[in-house]
Amino acid sequence: MRPAYVDRYIDLKMKNSSQVIVRPARNVRGSVQLPGDKSISHRYAMLAGIAEGASRLENYSTGADCASTLACMRSLGVPWECTEGGFIEVQGRGLSLAAPAKALDCGNSGSTMRMLSGIVAGQKFTSEMIGDESLSRRPMERVIKPLSAMGAQISSQQGKPPLRITGGALKAIDYTMPVASAQVKSCLLFAGLFAEGETRIEETLRTRDHGEVALRAFGAKLERKSAGQGNEIRLRGGQTLRGIGARIPGDLSSAAFFLCAAALFPGSQLLVPNLLMNPTRARLLDILMQLGLHISVTQLEEIHGELVGSLQVEGARLTQATISGADTAALIDEIPVLAAIAPFTEKGIEVRDAKELRIKESDRIAAVATNLRLMGAQVDEREDGLKIPGGQTLHGAELDSFGDHRIAMAFAVAALRAEGETLIRGAEAAGISYPAFFQTLEEVTER
Ligand code: S3P
Repeated sequence: MRPAYVDRYIDLKMKNSSQVIVRPARNVRGSVQLPGDKSISHRYAMLAGIAEGASRLENYSTGADCASTLACMRSLGVPWECTEGGFIEVQGRGLSLAAPAKALDCGNSGSTMRMLSGIVAGQKFTSEMIGDESLSRRPMERVIKPLSAMGAQISSQQGKPPLRITGGALKAIDYTMPVASAQVKSCLLFAGLFAEGETRIEETLRTRDHGEVALRAFGAKLERKSAGQGNEIRLRGGQTLRGIGARIPGDLSSAAFFLCAAALFPGSQLLVPNLLMNPTRARLLDILMQLGLHISVTQLEEIHGELVGSLQVEGARLTQATISGADTAALIDEIPVLAAIAPFTEKGIEVRDAKELRIKESDRIAAVATNLRLMGAQVDEREDGLKIPGGQTLHGAELDSFGDHRIAMAFAVAALRAEGETLIRGAEAAGISYPAFFQTLEEVTER
């Protein structure tokens, strides 16, 4: 459903897709309360479903992706409801779920399909997992291969969805991940709960650790050891989880759009309370500080193993940055918006080792390059990244979201510093992770 606030901007001649017009701004100022982190919301919903007893999730992500996860859990026999105060209350079923009567519809959500496949691989029934057009193009081989090695029977369309998974009697696996992917890591750890023996996962580049942290919060025991730039995790099968009551910290990847908007205006001031600060996600803050943004953090606390704090930021002149290697893996969801503000830095931003961006909800390297060029920017597009010179002046243009939430939001931010209005087609894609985005952006911009 299209969020009501978008209607104000709709071009009546185009009824099938919503358009948003973003006007240039003078400054960014105010406070932003973010909905719960998407990565944590998915994992809590899944683990709450296979835990014993009830869980109560506060500040659950409002995005359509996390709603897809909840809908799949319901199809797998997990009762949950959204209470009046906005809490999601889940009645856990324990490790044994119910055979779904229809295909599990993961919508646009790669996280849902990849991580949930680890759970259905542990069930003694067959599940079919489907997705929208974008998800149907995304590679699933990365979970099919190790889950098959654990004993699941999986068929796909040449490694792409739909997936048909017949699970049951899994054996533990010792697996070194060939791609840096937190979704795959969580998938295999979740499958490891159902497996006989000890599952050992090694990642050579560190990725977000919400799966590990959430498993511990739900009472599972696992061992973690850092190894070089990566990690090794061991988990024994057959452990029971127990439900939790938890407040989910604000989404750092959604905050990125507001932090980058503030970064565009020297003298801007923004407060972001209750924000996720998990060190495996917070590299963005280092890069923004390196670029010149003033950031201070207060009220740090730990909630169920996740670090949370309040952020106060103040805009200054932006210099330059290079993002490569381990940084690219740590910043993967924030690169589109960093690239979108790159022309407004003094000396530009270079992104390397980011091939994975080509197989996200859209080809994010091509999408960023296309939209920046439409705004008059000079961009050097490479197979695994982008080099965007600084000191450029951009003009408003007609852009496309390419059906990708992060592209829609990244260019709403860039448009704040362009000359003239920018129209973004397919702006409703923002609802995948952050339905209130345009309204909130409007509230903190001064014109
Ligand atoms: C996510 C991991 C990342 C990220 C995605 C969410 C997660 O994907 O891009 O938005 O919650 O684990 P990959 O695991 O494919 O890198």
